[in-house]
Amino acid sequence: MNKLTNLLRSANYPIVFTGAGMSTESGLPDFRSKDRGLWEKFNPNELANVQALRHNTAEFTAFYQYRLATLYKYKPHEGHHVLANWENDGVIKGIITQNVDTFHYDAGSKNVMELHGSFRTFHCHECEQPFDRENYFAGKSTCSCGGTIRPGIVLFGEQLPQDTFMQAEQEAGKADLFIVLGSSLTVSPANMFPLVAKENGAKLVIINQEPTDYDRYADLVIQDKSIKEVLTEIAAVI
Ligand code: APR
Repeated sequence: MNKLTNLLRSANYPIVFTGAGMSTESGLPDFRSKDRGLWEKFNPNELANVQALRHNTAEFTAFYQYRLATLYKYKPHEGHHVLANWENDGVIKGIITQNVDTFHYDAGSKNVMELHGSFRTFHCHECEQPFDRENYFAGKSTCSCGGTIRPGIVLFGEQLPQDTFMQAEQEAGKADLFIVLGSSLTVSPANMFPLVAKENGAKLVIINQEPTDYDRYADLVIQDKSIKEVLTEIAAVI
């Protein structure tokens, strides 16, 4: 813990990179944790892609209405608020996130790069007309044009938002400290950013309860504490 505190104190441009493990202590499931990950219950190949939207529409819609309903039940935890306070105080410079739960924004973070979009907006997959989230939550899922309504998140096989991606690439390149919080680092191209930072001279820290393939490149790996524990303990002394 002291090592991470010292790294944070001495860095000029720390960037945080979060995955679903950032939100499990809010109550949301992550995707790949043994026994509890979302992909243990649902098959992403049958649900989280455009083919499912087109040819498995009812199951696709039921899945995303279920995920939206789950999101409504939970909120950012103390760790999200610590990151927002640190950005406000200049301790960190921004957050690159794979998460679509909007919890970083909800907690007050400003410089947040949502690589996979978010559940903040919904639109028609055919005509791209924006669609009210509450109507989707209430069960409406077909556009007046006849198209299928979908969340503003990146489905498997779709392109990431280019401007967000480029901004994240710039931030990772400027980082002299890159802190991964709660990601298995198994999904590309998001999982390239720790190495972009490392190759540009940054110290790499990985806080994750399970090993990742990137641990061998890290200057510090913390597996024995949860993200909320680590963030709140450091917030008390930094
Ligand atoms: N503290 C520390 N680590 C945690 C905690 C916690 N409280 N909770 C979970 N973890 C770890 C798990 O051990 C796991 O290795 O967080 C990691 C989460 O990994 P994944 O479930 O694979 O989530 P993520 O890496 O964000 O997935 C990336 O995959 O399905 C797609 O688009 C989806 O953005 C997602 C992407």
